[in-house]
Amino acid sequence: MRSRTFKKGNRNEANTSPHDRRDFLKNVTFLGTAAFVPAVFTQSCKDQKMESSGESENKAAVISQRRILGKGTAAMEVSALGFGVMGMNYHRGIHPDKKAMIKLAHQAVERGVTIFDTAETYGPFTNEELAGEALSGYKDRIAITTKFGFNYAGNRINEMPAGLNSRPERIREMVEASLKRLRIDVIELLYQHRLDPDVPIEDVAGTVKDLITEGKVKRFGLCEVGAETIRRAHSVQPVTAIQSEYHLMWRSVEEEILPVCEELGIGFVPYSPINRGFLTGAINEYTRFDSGNDNRNILPRFTPEAIRANLRIVEELNRFGRTRGMTIAQVALGWLLQKAPYIVPIPGTTKLSHLEENLRTADFSLAKQEWDELEMAVAAIPVTGDRYPASEQRKVEK
Ligand SMILES: NC(=O)c1ccc[n+]([C@@H]2O[C@H](COP(=O)([O-])OP(=O)(O)OC[C@H]3O[C@@H](n4cnc5c(N)ncnc54)[C@H](OP(=O)(O)O)[C@@H]3O)[C@@H](O)[C@H]2O)c1
Repeated sequence: MRSRTFKKGNRNEANTSPHDRRDFLKNVTFLGTAAFVPAVFTQSCKDQKMESSGESENKAAVISQRRILGKGTAAMEVSALGFGVMGMNYHRGIHPDKKAMIKLAHQAVERGVTIFDTAETYGPFTNEELAGEALSGYKDRIAITTKFGFNYAGNRINEMPAGLNSRPERIREMVEASLKRLRIDVIELLYQHRLDPDVPIEDVAGTVKDLITEGKVKRFGLCEVGAETIRRAHSVQPVTAIQSEYHLMWRSVEEEILPVCEELGIGFVPYSPINRGFLTGAINEYTRFDSGNDNRNILPRFTPEAIRANLRIVEELNRFGRTRGMTIAQVALGWLLQKAPYIVPIPGTTKLSHLEENLRTADFSLAKQEWDELEMAVAAIPVTGDRYPASEQRKVEK
């Protein structure tokens, strides 16, 4: 059990006084001490030749580090960085054609990535279909993780945006349809995407437990839930991973969620780990997001005013990386990786160059003190804009 106590409540950085922030930072230092395992991060990922990609003359980035999500029967060994499939055809604007995305997914497998994340609601359905077409041929080498939780009862788009539905019959229906779309026999890790206030978490965990017994699912995960929900779910079916937003501009999981993960031996998968492309330097106030297929259009942190203000944070990462030969994206991902050995970020991309840049994050080995300095410098900059509009914020537990 943790001996330290953590402040409760919404940690909107913009509304946090410098005093609160100092206390908060003091309180969370255990993550950097107890959980910091230099061996994991210092084991350098060497460049290797990629014969299979037809690039035998070029050296490709390969991620060889592995991490464990969960423990006991719920444990799962995966590459230290995963791949978020969502943006390959959903929510991240204009994307290359399907053939190019399938090739990129193959290149990620060749480069050592073993965990690929999708969800029923991405599309809906089309992102799982893409993941299935691209990756089912590698099912013995990699894991495709997916999520239920929205109201596609009858496997139909019943309402837009889809409401929540985690009733046992809906979970079962989703699993059958997902297995077909993903072209696999068993789902390696199945997450609840958003908590359904009408269905007790014990019923959800019990349904997934039954699906595990039936051999349709191997492991259970939850997204954006509070500590108490994690404990209740875990007591019914051991949880492998919590997947919630986490990066240098959104750290609320440090208050209660990461301590619970550490206590119970649950892995943590930060989604949007480079804040939807913002923590890379590729976005500025003049960036325009595709109105039809990019949810950054409705996110308060992606208005031109918020972007202009928050670029101070990107500049801090840039300053930190410049003297160490790291790009801004590598600084953002490296900070997450060093936080704890059970953390596996899942950045998404549509570009091989970005995939390789992201994977090369594992090549860098920095002292904890350096990361602490970065963290303090970034924490001193107020974040402008909420992470979600009210409609989305209502769906997350904390
Ligand atoms: N559980 C949940 O509720 C939830 C919510 C959101 C997302 N997710 C999962 O998390 C995954 C990743 O999240 P995300 O796509 O929202 O955010 P992200 O991974 O933080 O950012 C993706 C964006 O960053 C850009 N990018 C990636 N690497 C880059 C680099 N090195 N330099 C410059 N730009 C770079 C990508 O554009 P390019 O294509 O140009 O590289 C893309 O637009 C998703 O695929 C999904 O699986 C889960």
